[in-house]
Amino acid sequence: MDKNKNEKMEAIVSLAKRRGFIYQGSEVYGGLSGTWDFGPLGVSLKRNIMNLWWKMFVQDREDMYGVDAAILMNQKVWKASGHVDTFTDPLVEDLETKQRFRADHLIKDAGYQADGLSLEEMTTLIRDNGIKSPNGNPLSEVRTFNMMFKTHVGPVDDESSISYLRPETAQGIFTNYKNVLDSFYPDLPFGLAQQGKAFRNEISPRDFIFRSREFEQMEIEYFIDPANWESEFTKWVGLVHDWTDALGLPAENVHELEVADADRAHYSKRTIDFEFDFPIGREELLGLAYRTDFDLSNIQREAGKNMEYTVKGTNTKFIPHVIEPSFGVERAIMAVLSAAYTEDEVNGEKRVYLRLPEHLAPVKYAISPLLKNKPELVAKAREVYDILKKKHGDVMWDDNGNIGKRYRRQDEIGTPFCVVVDFETLDDNAVTIRDRDTTEQKRVNISDL
Ligand code: GAP
Repeated sequence: MDKNKNEKMEAIVSLAKRRGFIYQGSEVYGGLSGTWDFGPLGVSLKRNIMNLWWKMFVQDREDMYGVDAAILMNQKVWKASGHVDTFTDPLVEDLETKQRFRADHLIKDAGYQADGLSLEEMTTLIRDNGIKSPNGNPLSEVRTFNMMFKTHVGPVDDESSISYLRPETAQGIFTNYKNVLDSFYPDLPFGLAQQGKAFRNEISPRDFIFRSREFEQMEIEYFIDPANWESEFTKWVGLVHDWTDALGLPAENVHELEVADADRAHYSKRTIDFEFDFPIGREELLGLAYRTDFDLSNIQREAGKNMEYTVKGTNTKFIPHVIEPSFGVERAIMAVLSAAYTEDEVNGEKRVYLRLPEHLAPVKYAISPLLKNKPELVAKAREVYDILKKKHGDVMWDDNGNIGKRYRRQDEIGTPFCVVVDFETLDDNAVTIRDRDTTEQKRVNISDL
């Protein structure tokens, strides 16, 4: 019962909206392109993913420190990091409608390779091959477009008050490296981790939450002795796979793409993009980069502050190098939903369900009285609800419609277990637990829940 790729994506987007996972941002006013709002179930799924990451990479490790930096930063940060000059995408304009598009996307959509091409090469390729805008009109020359959202801090709009909504969380980590060093003086290697919003004025946001203008990142800057960069990088490759396993993504759908010299970000000496087979095709899920001492050296030069690390008990000093695993939350959510979305048949009827790993499911247990107009069943079911709510938190009361409909509704949001209180419960203190994936039911004593 495999849907074609577009149909599957549409089914996921529709389920996400209908069942309160993800809505278009500002929808009531006609929407704002590239922005998305998380509904009650979406925010639970998102938090479960972000908390899992924080536990795996910060709480469970001795060498990792968390930070939470301000989104607005001194404009010098973005000049020193190279973002003011080079954080750009190639842009072309439809010469008739004046609509703007990502040049590399149009080139790829027309079946040509765009990676590593200069602006001039893209312009020539578009001209020589008669590539048109999606409206069928001729295109302008390709030029660069800076993706940072510019704003002013304070009441005066002049050059000195310019700031940007951060396009990556990483810089908030680098600017705090010295603070954490001074407070904790950790042994090398050690890492700083941060989760938070990032903003990019994407030319053409698309594919649901895959390419948004406001999104969330989870980033680690892992400070190392440069002599060990290759072995540290290899360790992180393994840890990234541990992460995709923890998300329940099938290993055969996760791929490593060694990024070629010409396509790497300006700061990176080696990058592996971890790609996932999304319904929209194989695309980047997260990145792992060897950022060398690019950022700390820039800060040392531009801010005039010493960023060197002194190896304990020695006079050996150097600027640490950095391995950076950079995870996008929305892409993790989209991958998890894509992997979980399943259609099958139960008793001759089509069923849609999310086979979410139990630890990520927004609701772990749905509790129902068999009949909602029987006060004795409702009271007993409430008792069970209270017990499970205290124990697990993510528990839902569901007494709408008949039992079959409740099961379908819970399947669709990925609830692993439905618990039903019936007349027998009043005699034997046992409930029926129904498993989402197998649809099997068994009787369990309330005290064993
Ligand atoms: N600090 C390095 C950095 O930001 P990146 O490859 O530009 O690297 C890292 O971004 C991750 O952030 C991506 O792999 C992706 O998961 C996520 N990401 C980037 N741009 C995004 C966008 N417009 N919408 C959603 N997620 C995005």
